[in-house]
Parts: sequence; structure tokens; C-alpha cells
Amino acid sequence: MDPMDRGMRYTPGSSDKDWDQAVTFLPASDNKKLEKKRGPGKVGIIVGLVILAAILALIIGLLVWHFHFRNDLNLKKIYTGTLRITNQDFVDAYENKDSAEFQTLAEKVMTQLHSMYSENPQLSKYYIDSSVLAFSEGSVIAYYESEFLVPVGQEAAVDQAVGILSDMYSSKVRRGVKKQGPLVIDYVVSSAMDTRLISKARTNTKYASHTKNTAEEIIKSPGFPDSPYAPSSFVQWELRGDPGHVLKLSFDTFNLEENCANDFVRVYNSLVAMDKHLMAEKCGFYSPSNPLTFISSRNVMLVTFVTNEEGNYPGFRARVTQIDGFSCGGKLSGSSGSFTSPNFPSYYPPNTTCHWDIEVPVGKFIKLKFPKFMVSTGSQNSCPGDYVEIVGKSKLCGQQPSNTMVTVSSNKATVVFRSDSSQVDRGFNATYEVFEPTDPCPEKFQCDNKRCVDPALRCDGWNDCGDSTDERMCNCDANMIQCRNGFCKPMFWRCDGVNDCGDDTDELGCGCNVGQFKCNNDQCISEKQKCDGNKDCKDGSDEEGCSRVVCTVSTFECNNGKCITKANPECDGYDDCGDGSDELNCDCGKKAYTKSRIVGGQDADVGEFPWQVSLHIKNSHVCGASIISNQWLVTAAHCVQDDGKLKYSQPGTWEVYLGLHTQKEKYKATKRLLKQIIPHPSYNPYTYDYDIALMELDSPVTYSETIRPICLPTSKTIFPAGESVSITGWGATREGGTGATVLQKAKVRIINGTVCDTLMNGQITSRMICAGILTGGVDACQGDSGGPMSFLTTDRSFLAGVVSWGDGCARKNKPGIYTNVPKFRGWIKEKTGV
Ligand code: ARG
Repeated sequence: MDPMDRGMRYTPGSSDKDWDQAVTFLPASDNKKLEKKRGPGKVGIIVGLVILAAILALIIGLLVWHFHFRNDLNLKKIYTGTLRITNQDFVDAYENKDSAEFQTLAEKVMTQLHSMYSENPQLSKYYIDSSVLAFSEGSVIAYYESEFLVPVGQEAAVDQAVGILSDMYSSKVRRGVKKQGPLVIDYVVSSAMDTRLISKARTNTKYASHTKNTAEEIIKSPGFPDSPYAPSSFVQWELRGDPGHVLKLSFDTFNLEENCANDFVRVYNSLVAMDKHLMAEKCGFYSPSNPLTFISSRNVMLVTFVTNEEGNYPGFRARVTQIDGFSCGGKLSGSSGSFTSPNFPSYYPPNTTCHWDIEVPVGKFIKLKFPKFMVSTGSQNSCPGDYVEIVGKSKLCGQQPSNTMVTVSSNKATVVFRSDSSQVDRGFNATYEVFEPTDPCPEKFQCDNKRCVDPALRCDGWNDCGDSTDERMCNCDANMIQCRNGFCKPMFWRCDGVNDCGDDTDELGCGCNVGQFKCNNDQCISEKQKCDGNKDCKDGSDEEGCSRVVCTVSTFECNNGKCITKANPECDGYDDCGDGSDELNCDCGKKAYTKSRIVGGQDADVGEFPWQVSLHIKNSHVCGASIISNQWLVTAAHCVQDDGKLKYSQPGTWEVYLGLHTQKEKYKATKRLLKQIIPHPSYNPYTYDYDIALMELDSPVTYSETIRPICLPTSKTIFPAGESVSITGWGATREGGTGATVLQKAKVRIINGTVCDTLMNGQITSRMICAGILTGGVDACQGDSGGPMSFLTTDRSFLAGVVSWGDGCARKNKPGIYTNVPKFRGWIKEKTGV
């Protein structure tokens, strides 16, 4: 309730009374006297009335000042809290706020809260009212909200007084003081509510659900997935499970504005929005490869979603299930093993303690390693909240570097993980192994940083130690490049355009440039001189075996049956086949203009990427695509997967804009609808494998300066690592950010597939091709999907990839992943004839 309301409600009452007195006062005086002195009497009355009116105005003014203006010096403060009632049993009716049982108990709680506050002068002075919001099991836990009207300057004192309520109560319970009223309360905890949750001019929606047995509830931001969430809204979900269970909340989609000051989701381990039980506040974007699940410590959870005046992000969807609980800790033995925090790699539950007792064979010592460690906030010196303690050794909290190690000089170790009531994190995974006190790296190579690595990893081209000491002073075997700095690198990285050695050894002496042929005598000649009937190499090796060239997977087969060994001979302007067949169907990949959301990019020029298409749903850009003929487009399969009510797979859902430059000027573009959509039948929505789809336009387009097709590579085209490619789109210009208005372009480099697979934790298949800038900052992002990765040769562009997925956007060592188009050349031909 607004404090001003209170003041004003009182004011008219008192002033009305004054008016009543004033009106009756004058006629009550001596009528006769007034009649006798008619002339001057009238003046007297007027003067009297004026004075009276002035006095009244003054009184009203004072009252208004007192109740209106003075109230501005008071602040309305809401404290949310929870208390446990031990002498009541929970009944199902307590779940229903309208039930008589709820109301009766709520009354009692409010009365008791009142008497509790009245014991403290700081609180009694400013207390206004309380309301009970919910009850849950155990015996009965009440969730409430109390309102105080606090003079400016007194907030801290009131905060403190509310903060110590819980100590007051627990000490009273300890001392056996029973001056509590009918309810026996053994636990109170309360704190000021985050002011951002106190709704101003917002729509307010509240949901409540009870997940039973194995059922699953879905919660989602309003409008999801059909429309972006609404601005200025507050939505709250009160979630319950059966007693003895805990709740698991798993977000399968999470895409909010990046700045939590604007839009955010909060997850509480409570039924009331209370910071002391806040598990996490989230905003921005989480990719499916970065699971976002939370576990409560009891059978309740509260989710709140707040948006500011601007809200145009897709939102979120989450599943709520109840689980029997989670186990953690235990006895570990043997000479090695592993353990993790509960729910790893997603968020651990609050209020949890786990003990692991590790015992290894007598005489050995223990080495503990934490590959991943994220335990709330804090530093090594002070871990005020959650922590991992290696008893007698050290306490770890906060974020620790990958593979943090702790050694214990004993054959026994106890590891304790503790989470407090708020702020959870992803936790940790840990391994332990034994070592001889005299030999810290048994049968292993000891790195300078004391880490031990498998000797087989020594000199394998990878930095396994973390400080590269396993790659120093290597004698490389025949299939490795011997770098001058002593490193060994796999031979297939030689001359791939990437400085793998770090000192360029692997890229030195590569001899011939792209487009050149290397003769057996190391001479370089132009590719087109190979097998042209002239011995261009001094040793004649360019004409060797030409008539015997057999068509293989890596050669181009001409219409006349000839096989071309030259890399990527098609549409390069040279008649390599002799019958022109390698230069057929090359009316593609050329921009009309010779002049020449992507993260880290810049505005493209009009017509610079005339094959770029914007796919819209209900007037908003959703995905990109590329023109491959006047009737066919290539996009990503993940763009055309149905999602609940939204039928992305139906041609009727989409509007296609060709020749579009800025999303603000759609009228300048050519619009088409779709006749059919053909997603690749092997598309895997979990791994994004085979992420490609074809779209047929309802009627052909006429090519123009801004509408042209891109060339398709052959199935044998190789886009070598290190080559530069262009990515384009109207997607987000930063991770979690908004889409671009003007088409963005950026240059990235093709990344070696093996390197990429390691960087992306083994998620790369041969249907994917990686490109990026490994130092971060440049990448495709949400909304760029389906769009082209264009590879520019001397004079035309080829569709090397289709924007598919990534881990966040533009992160360091996280390249963008694209559908590897050459792999689909046959399929495209089969389905479209192009
Ligand atoms: N899947 C995203 C989309 O639907 C594209 C993600 C590309 N991400 C990246 N980091 N390259 O728009």
C-alpha cells in the first residue's frame, strides 16, 4: 500500500469536521444583533469570513504538508521472511490461499509477527502491516512480507533490527522463553526485498504449481516461443513438490537481455523473494551446451522474472520436476577415483554439506585435482559462503584455474563441500590419485608447474602441462614437424597457413603458394601449367602421370571424363577440363558492385553480399539464408524445427526478403513466400549435426544488383585452415545482445578441424567446419544462423558454410561452427537440381 494513500485518507476526515463547525458557527451567533447593524454588520461578516477562510486554508495547508510532504521523508520498506512453526502440522489446504485453514493460520502468524516487532522499539515505531504469502511443509514454514514506513536515515537501523530477529528468536528458544503466543516459532529469517522486485508500473502475474510424482511442469516467459516477452512485467512462479522431495528446474532455452539491471530471472530456494535464499540471478543467453539447471534444498522454489520498459528478447522455457533428492559425499578408496559437487556441471543446491573420506593404501600420499572449480564467490583467503575444504590443508572457493591441484601428505584426506543458503554456482569435479612420497610423479612426466602428465603426451604437439614443459626439447619422430623451438607438431599441420609451432617453423619453406604446383625438384609453377602438354618443371614432373589421372574423391571429374588434380578448379576462370565443364554454371558468387549480427563486424555495403537473405516470421528477422538459384535457398536445419506452437517447419510461417540491406527498409527488398522447406533428414537437434535445409521460393526471383546467387562448392572443394572467409547477418552484435539493423559483415579464418574439435570438447563432426578468431571478439551470433560463410576466390564467392552454432559468441578459443557445405553438394543437387 502506498503510504501517501494512508495520509490522504485521514486528511479529508479531519478537515470535513472543521468545515462543519465553520458553517454552523456563524448562524449560531446573535441573529438580532446582526439584523440591527445591517450595514457595518455585513462588512464584519465578510471580513470574518475572509479571516476564517484564511485560517482554514492554513490548517488545510498544514495538514497536507504533514501528511503528504512529510511522507516523502519516509520510505516504504518491504521485508520478506520465512519462519518455522513447530507446533502445527501441515495440511493440504495450506497450499490454497483462499482456504479457511490458510486464513486462520495466516492471522495467527500476522498477530505473532506484530508482537514480535513490538518487542523491538526500532521496529514497532515503523511497522505497518504484514501478509502471509504461503506455507510449506516442515512442520509448517510460513513465508511472509512485512511493510515498514521508515524515516529516511533510519533504514540501516531497521535493516539491522530485522536482521537480528532471527538471533533473537533462536536465543529465546534456547533460553526456553515462551512468550511467543500460540505458535511456537523456532526459526525466523528475514531481509529487505530487492527494490527492483517491488513493482512500480508493471503488469503483475503470479502462478503457482505443485509438481507431483514424475510429472513435469513447464514454465516459460509470457509469449514464448511465439513472441518476445513483454516490457514492464513482473511474473512469479511458486513451485512446490511433495514433501521429502526437492525440485529441479532445467532451462532448455534461455535468451534474455544481457544486462541484468534491465531484465532478469531470479531463482529462490523459498516461496518468497528473499535475498538470503536467492540461488541465482540470470540474464543474457545460455547455449544448450551450457546447461542451466537448479536444484532446491527443499520441496519449494520460487522463480521471478522482471523486465524493464524495453523487452524484445525471446525469453526462456524451463522444466520443473521433483526428484528424490541428491546424494553426495561418501567413502572413496583405491589408488585413484573421482567425485563432483551435486548436480555438476550445473548448479549445486544451497544448504548442502558433503563429506568425502578418501583413504588410499598405507604409505602413499594423495594428490587432488580439480579440472573445473566454480564455487560461488570469495577468495582463497576468505570463503564466507560456499567452499571446498581439504581438511587440515586448504579451503577453496570462487573460481579456480582449471586443474587446480592440492596434495595431502598422508594416505587419508577429508574433503568437505559446503553451500550456504544463497548464491549457488556450477561447483566442481575432482579426481584423486596416489603418489609415492619420494616420487610425486610416478611413471609420469613432471611438468615445471609440478603437474604430472602421461609420458605418452610428451612431445605430442599439445600443451598438456599448461606451461608447455611437456613440449620442450623434443626429438620428433618422422610424422611430426620438428619446430626450431624444440616443439613437435603433427605433420599435417605443416604449411596449413597457421603458425602451429609458435616460431613459424611449420610454415617455413612451404615453397609454393596457393594456386601453384610444386614440382618434384621443389620448383613452383602455376597450377594451370600442370598437364598442359608443356614441361614447365625442369624435371618434367608437371607432365608426369597426366594421362593416367584417375578420378578419385579428391579430383574434379570433367564432362569429358578427364580428372583434374588441381585443387578447386571449378569456376576459377580457367578451362582446366578443355571442354569448359569446370567453368559451367558459374553465374554465381559475383557482386554487382566492385566496391566493396555478427560480433566484431561492420556494416556491409549495399549489394556486397547479394546472396544474403533475411528470413522473417511475423515481421521480425529470425534467421539468415543464401540464394543458390532463382528459386532455391540454403539455410540451417535448426532454423526450421517446430517449437511448440510455432511451426517453423511450415513454409507458410516464413516471409523471405531478398536484396535486403537494412531491416528498416524492407519495402526496398524483394519479398517472397515459400513453396517448400526440406530440412536434412539426418539433422540432429542435440548435436546440430547435418544442420542444413533447403527452401524453395513460391516464385522465381529476377537477379539484380542486390540479388544474386552464391556459388556452391563441389563435394571435393577444400577450404584450407587459415583461409579468410566472410560471415554476414543481422544477428546479435554481442553475446546476448540485440540484432543488427544494417547487414553486418566480418572476416574470420577457417580453423583446423582437429584443433576445433579439441576446443569444442569433441563436438565437431565432419559435417561441420569451424571458423573464427581464437583471440575472441569476432564471430557470428544469435540470428545469424542459416546465413552464409562466404569464401572469396579471386573473383567470386563460394558458400563454404552455413552459420550453425557456437559456445556463446566471440569468446576466446571458441570458434563459430558452420555446416560444411561441400559435404552436402550431392544432396543439394538431388533435391533442387542446382
Ligand atoms: N544458433 C545461432 C542462431 O540461431 C547461431 C549461433 C552462431 N554462434 C556462433 N557463436 N557462431 O542464430
